[in-house]
Amino acid sequence: MALNLKSLLFVSLFIALVAAPIAEATVLFPIRLLQINGAVFCTPTGNNIGVNGTLSPPFPNATVRLQCGPGNVVANAITNPLGVFSTIVLFPLNLNLSSLLNICTLVVVTPLSNCNSTLPPVGLVSPIQLNGSIIIGPVNITIIIPTRFQILR
Ligand SMILES: *[C@@H]1O[C@H](CO)[C@@H](O)[C@H](O)[C@H]1NC(C)=O
Ligand SMILES: *[C@@H]1O[C@H](CO)[C@@H](O)[C@H](O)[C@H]1NC(C)=O
Ligand SMILES: *[C@@H]1O[C@H](CO)[C@@H](O)[C@H](O)[C@H]1NC(C)=O
Ligand SMILES: *[C@@H]1O[C@H](CO)[C@@H](O)[C@H](O)[C@H]1NC(C)=O
Ligand SMILES: *[C@@H]1O[C@H](CO)[C@@H](O)[C@H](O)[C@H]1NC(C)=O
Ligand SMILES: *[C@@H]1O[C@H](CO)[C@@H](O)[C@H](O)[C@H]1NC(C)=O
Repeated sequence: MALNLKSLLFVSLFIALVAAPIAEATVLFPIRLLQINGAVFCTPTGNNIGVNGTLSPPFPNATVRLQCGPGNVVANAITNPLGVFSTIVLFPLNLNLSSLLNICTLVVVTPLSNCNSTLPPVGLVSPIQLNGSIIIGPVNITIIIPTRFQILR
C-alpha cells in the first residue's frame, strides 16, 4: 500500500514536472506522422483491372516499401488477404511534403509471381500522391496513396 502511494506520488510529480512542458512544446512543434494506404492486385501491373466496380484478385502477403532515394527505406508494410496495406510512421524529418511526393516511391518487393505463377517474377513501383491529412490535437497525419503501379525494371 505504502509502495503504491509512493508510486502514485511519483507519477503525479512526474506528470506535473514533465508532461506540462511537453504539452506546451507539442503546440509549438506539432508531431508529424505519415500514413501510407493502398492495395496491390494480382494482375500484370498490380493495379485493379476489374470492370464495372468489380475487383481483380488481391496480392496478399506482399512487402511494400516507401523508398525515398537510394537505400532510404522510410516505411515497410505487408498486404493483408485483401491486398490492402496501411502503416503509420514519423514524417521523414529531412523532407518537406513537396520533396516527399517528388522523391519517394512505393515499391512492392515481393515478386508478382508469388500470387500467380503465370505472372512474371518482377517487383512493382508507383509514384505517390497526397490523399488528405488528419489533425488530432497536436498530431498532423499526412495521408499518401500510390498513384499507379508499374513493373519495376
Ligand atoms: C459494364 O456495364 C456496362 C453498363 O452497365 C455494360 O454495358 C457492360 O456490358 C458491363 N461490362 C461488363 C464486362 O460487365
Ligand atoms: C500469407 O502468410 C501467412 C503467414 O505467413 C500464411 O499463413 C499464408 O498462407 C500466406 N498466404 C498467401 C496467400 O501466401
Ligand atoms: C522543400 O525542400 C526542397 C529541397 O530542400 C526545397 O528546394 C523546397 O523549396 C522546399 N519547399 C517548400 C515548400 O518548403
Ligand atoms: C493467374 O493468372 C492467369 C492469367 O495470367 C489467370 O488466367 C488465372 O485465373 C490466374 N489465377 C488466379 C488463381 O488468379
Ligand atoms: C482518399 O481519401 C478519400 C477521402 O477520405 C477516401 O474516400 C478515398 O478512399 C481515399 N483514396 C484511397 C485510394 O485511399
Ligand atoms: C498537415 O500536414 C499537411 C501535409 O503535410 C499540410 O498540408 C497541412 O497544412 C498541415 N496542417 C496543419 C494544421 O498544420
